[in-house]
Amino acid sequence: MAKVYVFDHPLIQHKLAYIRDINTGTKEFRELVDEVATLMAFEITRDLPLEEVEIETPVKKATVKMLSGKKLGVIPILRAGIGMVDGILKLIPAAKVGHIGLYRDPETLMPVEYYAKLPNDLEERECIVVDPMLATGGSAIEAIHSIKKRGAVNIKFMCLIAAPEGVEALQAAHSDVDIYIAALDEKLNDHGYIIPGLGDAGDRLFGTK
Ligand code: URA
Repeated sequence: MAKVYVFDHPLIQHKLAYIRDINTGTKEFRELVDEVATLMAFEITRDLPLEEVEIETPVKKATVKMLSGKKLGVIPILRAGIGMVDGILKLIPAAKVGHIGLYRDPETLMPVEYYAKLPNDLEERECIVVDPMLATGGSAIEAIHSIKKRGAVNIKFMCLIAAPEGVEALQAAHSDVDIYIAALDEKLNDHGYIIPGLGDAGDRLFGTK
């Protein structure tokens, strides 16, 4: 069963409180999402493998630890996922970025892929799929199906806020994908919004309504 990690670092929780606040405007919202994405990237990369490397300091030769060159991929789900990408890249600038766009079919209510542009060596990468909100889980499940179909085998899912319904659905669909969140909220309302949540993440990021 996939694990769920809640990043309860005080800075993440403090910034998330401002992100949730209805009085936080677009500019500040975007900056805060970027900052929280950076802080979450710091936590999510905790298990990256290290290797010992010989270097020379101004004083003497030394054996030090460096990342062992694991390849990473960041895959935002359009459109709100884009708001988290730059914050993650601040810490892992060499990561490749793939994009997946999904819309909800008005009849079946199922997510349908309309766009996918992904690194062509997904099987060699640790892929971090990002979307600020894990609500029903439909988009995350479909996006992960989509990257698995194209070869991805090592996948993590990262979001700001999750509903228990979304976590359960994602765990059931992809038991190999660990979930990294800043907060686990109460539930979904009848319109599929997370309660208390933060409203529509895409609209708040891009200033649309
Ligand atoms: N997507 C959002 O942007 N907000 C929610 O509360 C649920 C899904």
